[in-house]
Amino acid sequence: MKTYLNDAQATRDLGRQIAGLAYPGLVLALQGELGAGKTTLAQGVGDGLNVQDRVRSPTFIILSLYEKGRLPMVHADLYRLGDASELVELGLDEFLSMGVTLIEWSERFPEILPKDHLVVVLADQEQGRLADIRGTGTKAQDFVRSLQALRG
Ligand SMILES: Nc1ncnc2c1ncn2[C@@H]1O[C@H](COP(=O)(O)OP(=O)(O)OP(=O)(O)O)[C@@H](O)[C@H]1O
Ligand SMILES: [Mg+2]
Repeated sequence: MKTYLNDAQATRDLGRQIAGLAYPGLVLALQGELGAGKTTLAQGVGDGLNVQDRVRSPTFIILSLYEKGRLPMVHADLYRLGDASELVELGLDEFLSMGVTLIEWSERFPEILPKDHLVVVLADQEQGRLADIRGTGTKAQDFVRSLQALRG
């Protein structure tokens, strides 16, 4: 599905809607250029899950865990990651099945993504962004259909 996001608030609102439908094990690959709105979307998901802590850009810490919400949330940014084995050391694998995981710059290490995940591509369009969302497996594809129904 494609959906236009007029401003940063619209990006956060999409994140809240994603959070409302999210299930344990949902993994989102957040793609798009620097400044595309990936972290903004993750902040909306954090709001929607009610994680309580402010979701920040995890670029310098690679992986942040939020445990106080409806589901545990992991927010990762692989922009500066040297080696995928570091993620195993950080325990990402265990979180992938437990909570909601959002990964910025997963393109750098596509092998870490489970087969069935959601891809969200954010691109500049006019003054806002165009989000292109697709599922790579049956669960994620069902999720996209529900999201589409919700957004009308
Ligand atoms: N739909 C939108 N329309 C206009 N501006 C937006 C939209 N969504 C987010 N922004 C703005 O874009 C800027 C960059 O957002 P953000 O930090 O989320 O990008 P990012 O993709 O995470 O960047 P990076 O690759 O550096 O991590 C912010 O100022 C944010 O408010
Ligand atoms: Mg970011």
